[in-house]
This record gives sequence, structure tokens and C-alpha cells, in this order.
Amino acid sequence: MAVRVAVGSDHAGFRLKEMLGDHLRVSGHEVLDLGTHSEDPVDYPDYGAAVGRAVMSGSVERGVCVCGTGIGISISANKVTGVRAASVHDVTSARLARQHNDAHIACFGARVTGPEVAKDAVDVFMGTAAEGGRHRVRVEKIAAIEAEERS
Ligand code: RB5
Repeated sequence: MAVRVAVGSDHAGFRLKEMLGDHLRVSGHEVLDLGTHSEDPVDYPDYGAAVGRAVMSGSVERGVCVCGTGIGISISANKVTGVRAASVHDVTSARLARQHNDAHIACFGARVTGPEVAKDAVDVFMGTAAEGGRHRVRVEKIAAIEAEERS
């Protein structure tokens, strides 16, 4: 099923972000590229926030972020209220991020995960449903923490 996906990265993730965007397009998805558009140094929080906001606004259903490690950009995307951004390293973490965490956004580290593994993982992330049940209860607890912290 074709899905709208926002992609974003910093300079360290630029090349992998381009590859994953092309891969998603070839797979039939509609890709919204929120930058960056070169390897010139930029700040990963700007791109994590942009992808997080695109997901929460409803303009896209999923997001893919890339920085050097996948860590900084996932922390940043998760600061957008309601976002569940997961640091993904392989097909197993991609599958479980969807099944257990109902993650909206997969975050990759271009310095730690190779492009072929990342492409396989993004396919699994796009094609796996959330399991619900006991996992839904836990995901709702994450939202409750967020609401408590903001009150
Ligand atoms: C940039 O050098 C690097 O710090 C960034 O891409 C990321 O790995 C941060 O978490």
C-alpha cells in the first residue's frame, strides 16, 4: 500500500536519506523530502522536528530520519508532542518498532547501519502493522507520561 512518508536528515545522514527516499519512491510511496539537501553541515534537531511535525500534522503517515547515529535526530523528533520515533538498526528493530511501539518514524544512523540493511529495514518498517493488545496499553502509557509532563 502506498503511504506518504516524510524523510529528513542532517549532513551526516544526507547520502543515506537520499538512498532511502529513492528506495521508497521506487516502492510506490509518496515521499516528502524535508532536507537537508547537501553534505554542508546543519543541525539535526531542525530536521528531526520537521519530520515529527509533518507526521503529527497529518500531512504524512510515516517518517524516516537519518543522522550519523540515528540518536540525535530520534531524540529531536520525539520532542514533538505525540511522536514515537524509534532508533532502527536492522529488520528486527524495524519490525518490533512497529509491532510493539507503533512507531511513526524510523531513525537510522548512516555511520552505523549500511545502506542495504537500512533499505531492508525501511521496507519492514513500512509494511508492518502495530500489534495492539498489551502493547497498545503500553503505548498509551507513553502518551500519559507526555500529558503529565505538559500539565
Ligand atoms: C553530526 O556530526 C552528528 O553529531 C549527528 O549526525 C548525529 O550523529 C547526532 O546524534
